[in-house]
Amino acid sequence: MISAKRGEGGGDIFPICTFIYKYCESLQAKRRSKMGISDVVVNELKIDPAFVLSPEFRPKPVEVLKELDGIPVIDLAPLLANDEKGTQIIVEQIAKASEEWGFFQLINHGIPIKLLDDVEVEALKFFSLPLEEKRKIRRTLEHPLGYFDTELTQNVRDWKEVFDFVTRGKLEFAAADGTLNVQENKWPESPPFLKDVCEAWKEATLGVAYKILELLTLSLGLPATYFNPLFDKEDTNFMRLNYYPPCPAPDLVLGVSGHKDSGALTVLVQDEVGGLEVRRKDGEWIRVKPRRDALIINVGDLFQQVWSNDRYKSVEHRVVVNEHKERSSIPLFINPSNATNVFPIPELLDAQHPPKYRQYNWGDFLQALKTSHFKNMRVENIQISHLAINS
Ligand code: OGA
Ligand code: NI
Repeated sequence: MISAKRGEGGGDIFPICTFIYKYCESLQAKRRSKMGISDVVVNELKIDPAFVLSPEFRPKPVEVLKELDGIPVIDLAPLLANDEKGTQIIVEQIAKASEEWGFFQLINHGIPIKLLDDVEVEALKFFSLPLEEKRKIRRTLEHPLGYFDTELTQNVRDWKEVFDFVTRGKLEFAAADGTLNVQENKWPESPPFLKDVCEAWKEATLGVAYKILELLTLSLGLPATYFNPLFDKEDTNFMRLNYYPPCPAPDLVLGVSGHKDSGALTVLVQDEVGGLEVRRKDGEWIRVKPRRDALIINVGDLFQQVWSNDRYKSVEHRVVVNEHKERSSIPLFINPSNATNVFPIPELLDAQHPPKYRQYNWGDFLQALKTSHFKNMRVENIQISHLAINS
């Protein structure tokens, strides 16, 4: 690189040197900005730099991975058998798991595995379609449902493709100008059975999700149905088909960067490939071992932190991708109506437990969140922690 500092001589040649120096600098800068977080490896691997994480956020090498059986497994059989005593024990197990992990797996949940097999087969058919076909039902900023392959978590692109639909068939909310905005699910023409199998899986998992919501509510010492009116008619639940293609550089990217789910709770199934990691209390990322017979429940910011006023903590999680295998997962996000104003539950507050979060409107929050997953706002994604009093 030619370098010439002002005052270092150079006579007549100095302006030319300066010009060449500046020109080289500007070329370098252009290259840097085009490559984002660039390094040679990235270049050789031909990975779009928009996916590449800064080193501190990258996944751990496989050798130091700790796979975990250990997130609590809770057996729902006593609940399904209407065994009152057994159900009380489940409530206690849920409370403990929520305090210690924010994640647990449910077995004997009563949902036939065949329903899951069917969704996975149809979902794979959909994601195998050519990109132009999938993009016919592409999600836009104005219409947040359908296919999407450019989601940002904390402004870095996730190595995944998704298909989103709302469980009520349509989303209705008041637009900024006061008019009613109605958005319906976008289903692809092919594969023809995708809609039917997704609807069947949705019905089955919704039943379990609302049961768990009631047990969580009981675990806070509130009546089981305390929150039901917020979900009864106008919930904003949505289901997502996640597809993580094989990745040539799984050590540089994540399928989903570390995040917390914002809603009340999430019911998730993952296939046998695995890749979901949960951040344990000591900061260590722990891989959740796939279990075909289990539903993974994680409690979101809204329930865990705000309603419970930090009695429970919602937990960060992320997805590591695989060099050779594709992976799928299906989360169902349970969210209240747009009109819901969220604030710490007064019954849980007293002089020793003052409110830790400001009130916010769920519909406004959801709208801002969707925008920040869509556009690079050059700031962190909106998060509940931003609403903490004293934050
Ligand atoms: C999510 C998520 C985990 C997974 O979609 O919010 O955390 O295993 N997914 O795909
Ligand atoms: Ni999540």
